[in-house]
Amino acid sequence: MHSFKITPCRPDAASLTALLDLCFGPGRLARTAERLREGNSPVPDYDFCAHDAQGQLIGSISFWPLYIGQEPAVLLGPLAVHPEHQGLGLGEQLMQTALQAVEATRFPFVLLVGDLPYYERVGFQVAPRTVRLPGPVDPTRLLVKGDSALCADLTGLVRPAPDLC
Ligand SMILES: CC(C)(COP(=O)(O)OP(=O)(O)OC[C@H]1O[C@@H](n2cnc3c(N)ncnc32)[C@H](O)[C@@H]1OP(=O)(O)O)[C@@H](O)C(=O)NCCC(=O)NCCS
Repeated sequence: MHSFKITPCRPDAASLTALLDLCFGPGRLARTAERLREGNSPVPDYDFCAHDAQGQLIGSISFWPLYIGQEPAVLLGPLAVHPEHQGLGLGEQLMQTALQAVEATRFPFVLLVGDLPYYERVGFQVAPRTVRLPGPVDPTRLLVKGDSALCADLTGLVRPAPDLC
C-alpha cells in the first residue's frame, strides 16, 4: 500500500537534487525556466514536500518570485514525484496544497512551463503570446493561472524578482 505525507518544507539539497535528476534527467538545468531560478530563491512559505512511510523524499514543489512585465507573479516548479509513486494523485495533491498557500497571499499570477492537459485540471490556461521568456519556449506550454481577464492582459518579459521574496 502506498502512503505519503505532504508537509510544508524545503528538502535538503542532496535529497532534492537526487529526486530532480531522477524525474527530469540530466538536461534539466538547460531549460529556459531554469534561467528564472538563477539568482533567485524559492518563496519559503510555498515549499512543500512529500515523504513516504519510511521518511524518504518522494515529491517536491516550489515557487519562485517573478515579474511578468510589471506584474508580480510566481513560477511553479519544479514539481516532481518519484517514478515509483507516480499516478497516485500525489502530484495533484502537492499542487492543490501549494496553490492554496499561494492564493492566500500576495501573488495574483502563477506561471509555469508544462503540459496543458495535466495543469488545466488545476486551472491553468495558455499564457498570451505577449508574455515572453528569456529563452526559447514552446508557447503552447507556457501556462498561467489567475483571474482570466487579468491573465489575458499580461504582457512583457518575464524576469526573476528576488526582491519580492
Ligand atoms: C508530472 C508529475 C509531477 C505528475 O505526478 P503524479 O503524482 O504522477 O500525478 P497525479 O497522480 O496527480 O496525476 C496522474 C494523472 O496525470 C496524468 N499526467 C501525468 N503527467 C502528465 C503530462 N505530462 N501530461 C498530461 N497528463 C499527465 C497521468 O496520465 C494521470 O492521468 P489519470 O489521472 O487520468 O490516470 C510526475 O509524473 C513527474 O514528476 N514527472 C517528471 C517530472 C515532470 O515532468 N514534472 C512536471 C513538469 S514541471
